[in-house]
Amino acid sequence: MSTNKYALLFILIAGLLLPAACTEKKKPIVITPPGNNNGAGQPNYAPLAFTLPVPDESVVLEEEINPVLREQGAVLYRLKCQSCHKQNEEKLVGPGLYKILQRRSPGWLMSMLLYTQEMLDNDPESRKLLELYKVRMTNTSLSREEARAVLEYMRSFNEQVK
Ligand code: HEC
Repeated sequence: MSTNKYALLFILIAGLLLPAACTEKKKPIVITPPGNNNGAGQPNYAPLAFTLPVPDESVVLEEEINPVLREQGAVLYRLKCQSCHKQNEEKLVGPGLYKILQRRSPGWLMSMLLYTQEMLDNDPESRKLLELYKVRMTNTSLSREEARAVLEYMRSFNEQVK
């Protein structure tokens, strides 16, 4: 198991360093991104039924929101997400992200941010959204660290602000 973890870590790092090469090296690993560590005591979701370039099962949320990460995420969010998403329940170009972490697991969200097009093509939930919203979410071009920060920021979407 731990050897396996190291292998995954290696793939992850390689994926970060070689994004171009990475697309050719899709490993047939079935991941279970929507895990149970979403900090909200949610049930496990079914594993993804397709292969992502890099598995994202390693998202760990601390009980408390990390203020530094959250602030980094807020800056990125204003830059890259705000034009299409509101933090309340209102639809803009895409869905309102109110209490998004109660609807989606951290792994699923990381996948959505890092592998948007793969998710829209293959993930049943993402495809449902696409059918509903008709517009394809654009690639975020966030690094894994940046996506993680945005995720931390999204944890705070518990108030109906715009
Ligand atoms: C060009 C508009 C656009 C941008 C920019 C964009 N999104 Fe999206 N997003 C969408 C649309 C539209 C959907 C619904 C799926 C689809 O149709 O592609 C979506 C879906 C989502 C979902 C799933 C929502 C749910 O209800 O499950 C999340 C989470 C999300 N986006 C987060 C982000 C974040 C975070 C960023 C910035 C890094 C971002 N999006 C940037 C348009 C956008």
